[in-house]
Amino acid sequence: MSLTPSKKLQGIELSEIRKMNALAKAGTINLGIGELPFNVPESVREAGVAAMNGAATRYTRNQGTPELCEAVAVAHGARIGKVVSAVQVVITNGAQGALWNTLYTYLDEGDEILIPEIGFSVYETICSMQRAKAKNYKLNNDFSIDFDYLESQITDNTKFIVFNNPGNPTGKQYDSETCKKLADLADKHESLYIISDEIYKDLYTDEQPDTPARYTDKVFLIDGISKKASATGLRIGWTISTAELAKPLIVSNQYIATCAAAPSQMAAVPAVKGEAEEFIAGVRASLNKNRALAYEILSKIPYVKVNKPEGAFYIFPDISHYGTSKDVAVAILEEVNVLTIPGIAFGSRGDRHIRISCAMDYEVLKQGLLKIAAFFENRV
Ligand SMILES: Cc1ncc(COP(=O)(O)O)c(C=O)c1O
Repeated sequence: MSLTPSKKLQGIELSEIRKMNALAKAGTINLGIGELPFNVPESVREAGVAAMNGAATRYTRNQGTPELCEAVAVAHGARIGKVVSAVQVVITNGAQGALWNTLYTYLDEGDEILIPEIGFSVYETICSMQRAKAKNYKLNNDFSIDFDYLESQITDNTKFIVFNNPGNPTGKQYDSETCKKLADLADKHESLYIISDEIYKDLYTDEQPDTPARYTDKVFLIDGISKKASATGLRIGWTISTAELAKPLIVSNQYIATCAAAPSQMAAVPAVKGEAEEFIAGVRASLNKNRALAYEILSKIPYVKVNKPEGAFYIFPDISHYGTSKDVAVAILEEVNVLTIPGIAFGSRGDRHIRISCAMDYEVLKQGLLKIAAFFENRV
């Protein structure tokens, strides 16, 4: 007798990011990691410790604690200049939990969902696990959205357009016009909604990115503390939608997770209430410096084309002159012991690129980038 995984998992493996990271060896400079290298801000640490020392180790509401839901609602309302109520918020296990919960709750078999042709692979995988159909929408060479193409892909079965601002792995930050155009599309097509993944929204270069949620209520806004508060392990994310849309998300959350971990929810409150702003401003400043360095070094490499990243912590050079993304990333690792992520991990169009994370100590990043530059220069 043998037991095989269900059909839902057929063809699904650990992502290329995990596989690549598993190849790291002694002394590898790891520029593949999607998280900041810092401890959490003091206010977050203190709130987490207080939670563990008190009684905040029991179940919370399925929706999340009133304090955290309220804090998320207030912060979001202030950002978009609208009154937002805590009933619109559902707390999940990371932004990933928010994505899973939203797609699980609202997708039916055969539904279509439009995802960026270069993007976080989880969108497509979750979709396929729900037996829905993911279709790519085209990005231009500067990673802006080809709206004519996007609109041509919308059918009566299209439920969601997934939007990620700023983008992983591209580092692209989309402007207000883009957010408004997406909102207009949702308003034009009755059964179409936007999933706006804004997990990197606080890691911008100049100005916090806008959101389609400012222009329409047909948005599931995905966010959390993982990236901005260097708190990937606390596993706190959320969805902000409308009171009506949130109700079924709470039902799903009960059966998927019961609730997000209580101490983590308490730890997240100061980060959401703006009590970690100094820390986050410091992160932004160090990322700005790191991105500028990465752009300067990579843009000088012959035949490598690179867009200046505007947000998140990635830079995504086009290395296609030198081979496929996997071949190049593996050769970089073998020859100069620097780990990067093959762009194929983000869709077939990504195969022309490698992803380099700038969330790293400046000097270590510089060393890694110079080794990458030397690797390519040896091949010219
Ligand atoms: C675009 C994007 N969305 C969501 C997530 C998941 O974030 P979390 O760690 O909060 O689950 C990530 C993590 O890398 C990401 O890059």
